[in-house]
Amino acid sequence: MLFPVPKAWAERAHVNAEALAAARRRADEDPHGYWKDLAGRLDWITPPTKIKDVSLRTEDFRIRWYEDGVLNVSANCIDRHLRHRANDVALIWEGDDPAASRKITYAELHEQVCRMANVFKAQGVTKGDRVTIYLPMIPEAAYAMLACARIGAVHSVVFAGFSPDSLSGRINDCDSKLVITADEGVRGGKRIPLKANVDAALAHCPGVEKVLVVTRTGAHVPLTAGRDIIYEHAAAKASIHCAPEPMNAEDPLFILYTSGSTGKPKGVLHTTGGYLVWASWTHEAVFDYRPGEVYWCTADIGWVTGHTYIVYGPLANGATSVMFEGVPNYPCNSRFWQVIDKHKVEIFYTAPTALRALMREGEAPVERTSRASLRLLGSVGEPINPEAWLWYHRVVGESRCPIVDTWWQTETGGTLMTPLPGADALKPGSACGPMPGVKPELVDAEGVVLEGATEGNLVLTDSWPGQMRTVYGDHQRFIETYFTTYPGKYFTGDGCRRDADGYYWITGRVDDVLNVSGHRLGTAEVESALVAHPRVAEAAVVGYPHPIKGQGIYCYVTLNAGVEASESLRKELIDWVRREIGPIATPDVIQWAPGLPKTRSGKIMRRILRKIAENELENLGDTSTLADPSVVDDLVKNRAGA
Ligand code: PRX
Repeated sequence: MLFPVPKAWAERAHVNAEALAAARRRADEDPHGYWKDLAGRLDWITPPTKIKDVSLRTEDFRIRWYEDGVLNVSANCIDRHLRHRANDVALIWEGDDPAASRKITYAELHEQVCRMANVFKAQGVTKGDRVTIYLPMIPEAAYAMLACARIGAVHSVVFAGFSPDSLSGRINDCDSKLVITADEGVRGGKRIPLKANVDAALAHCPGVEKVLVVTRTGAHVPLTAGRDIIYEHAAAKASIHCAPEPMNAEDPLFILYTSGSTGKPKGVLHTTGGYLVWASWTHEAVFDYRPGEVYWCTADIGWVTGHTYIVYGPLANGATSVMFEGVPNYPCNSRFWQVIDKHKVEIFYTAPTALRALMREGEAPVERTSRASLRLLGSVGEPINPEAWLWYHRVVGESRCPIVDTWWQTETGGTLMTPLPGADALKPGSACGPMPGVKPELVDAEGVVLEGATEGNLVLTDSWPGQMRTVYGDHQRFIETYFTTYPGKYFTGDGCRRDADGYYWITGRVDDVLNVSGHRLGTAEVESALVAHPRVAEAAVVGYPHPIKGQGIYCYVTLNAGVEASESLRKELIDWVRREIGPIATPDVIQWAPGLPKTRSGKIMRRILRKIAENELENLGDTSTLADPSVVDDLVKNRAGA
């Protein structure tokens, strides 16, 4: 099935088919000129003359973009718009309660960000210091990111759904001395005790000196003397002038923790110049954005999508960006579409998991609304099944709006593969092809490059400006994780198919990373949470297809000798994981496993566990290398029936 580019789109788009082909050619033939011109979209204090210095080989590894350029991200996202657009709306905040919304102009954003930057400074934060942001979806979350950028501090946003344990791990890993949080968060009519979570986390974080507490609900929260400060009190005394700190293009901008296939989450580090070039360019090109249009990305700023496509990309482009505190089904299943009508949203960007959940409720909640303002739809975070794509296109977009299915990762900083709405015919479920200058390749397990229509592992053979630069505090882990499986190439961890027309179809992770409702989670993290329970001896976790979440979490648990399996223990373990990591890690299935299938050298054979979880029992493959093949029979016989 092919949806051609609508005529109006081919005519009006920033990037039509011709422009796309020309950009691809230029990026190939004159990469220096191509990438240099792309940097020209930002305001530089000192424009870069050194454009790209990259080697992905371990012996002389380096990734440097625009390395002699000097700029400030917050000045690019705010100050440069003040001359002509001070009174344009930068952020539209839509509260959890449909009666609560606010518009923040670029002039106000400037004031608020400067004020918060001065509060940070007054608390001793200086250039290069790390600040942890643990805030709900309120404007202060964006202010805090931009305030860090303004003074050269490095932010680490931790999703407000993460547990105290997850939070403390992330605070300690990057050694933050300041944490900014809120008294409580509000989502779907429920309150989330953020300050209490911070208090619990900080029992294990000796390095934190100050906690700023933003007032969201006004709930009474205990304050620790000498450490905790009500943000509004400090802000009242702070000046609204704060000069942006000149930053080198390769100075760190932020750290964002993400799950890998082994060990604890890694601190993905992005730098200043290349990241912002990529965020701003992809936001404009992919969404065909023009100032004045209302754009809404439904992600949370705790994830990279919120960083790049709620805050940095849109604001760098002078956009009006909607920031939504709530959830798609509160107070009713029409909420997304009501918000679109309320704010006349033209461009809407969401995740397949939300679409699948809403699709289940039928078409009536959508059709009750007008959605006449919509002209472009986007999808991100996981493969979108053609059924959900077609529903999105026909029901939400009334067959009039192209869909951009954007493939990217925390590591990539911004979109790498997507159709461009004025240039590419759409195939439901395909991320189409690379942005100009991005070099995907499909390889087999041995690294042999696969040509033509084929399926393999997705690698990128060259860098792009928004690429992560290191794993915070562990450069070796960065190189080992991404550049040694296929030496000299960046390994994405994704599988991918390329069809006869050259369209790319992401098939999902090929490593031990789960994608649960678009949230990335390492099986190792869930396993270590489970084995931390005093009654658990061993655990193995795999994903299985889930109709709404994309992937569900299937846990095989071996209990300590003498411990009786019971329904109440099952519930206790589910609760335990929620508390250890956060609700996104809630196990869907727990199967009691008297033993786990292991090789004679003791390695768990996950391939078999995956097949059992997927209920592909005829297809277990070779079990002859198992130390004890009978454990498989037991697991099959007692399959938990997801
Ligand atoms: O498997 C891919 C999937 O999400 C992973 C990256 O997750 P994260 O770093 O949390 O970033 C999510 C937001 C960019 C990828 O390795 N993924 C992301 N977008 C798509 C996707 N899979 C298929 N299609 C997409 N459009």
